[in-house]
Amino acid sequence: MQPKKLTPPNDDKRWRLVGATMRKHGFLPSALIETLHTVQEAFGYLDDQSLRWVALNLRVPLSRVYGVATFYNYFTLKPQGEHTCVVCLGTACYIKGAPDILEAIQAQEDIKPGETSADKKVSLLIARCIGACGLAPAVVYDGEVVGKLGPEQALARINAWRANKAEEVAHAAG
Ligand code: FES
Repeated sequence: MQPKKLTPPNDDKRWRLVGATMRKHGFLPSALIETLHTVQEAFGYLDDQSLRWVALNLRVPLSRVYGVATFYNYFTLKPQGEHTCVVCLGTACYIKGAPDILEAIQAQEDIKPGETSADKKVSLLIARCIGACGLAPAVVYDGEVVGKLGPEQALARINAWRANKAEEVAHAAG
């Protein structure tokens, strides 16, 4: 009997990539490391939600999944910034200008992938194909996939996070 995949945590298409890896390995516990790799490549990091979903699907205790995720330093746990920005560096996005986007964000925020800005507003991550190649180059802002971006537009999104915050503060004060 073909094992059945549990429903993903939400309708983010990137779960399909993760599901495909688990299915390829018959949802066996031995697929854990490869599955976590797929999560990281698609999302840029591992968070509680993804670790739980993988644990349930592969029938591996959550403690073991956390153990593996924290043991290997090539896995990144969810970063500390208030917002996360994941730049896809998969082939399609790379060809269509993702390196320029990455460079612009790095320069503006003075951070490298895996780091968080000094004011803790923005964490920058990279992923390898998030399954939206038709939108290349794609960036994921707090879970929202945005495509066909240039460096200026990519920065504008980040700047909007700070501007909105400033507006909220002004509103609360006024
Ligand atoms: S290469 Fe970026 S979405 Fe596929």
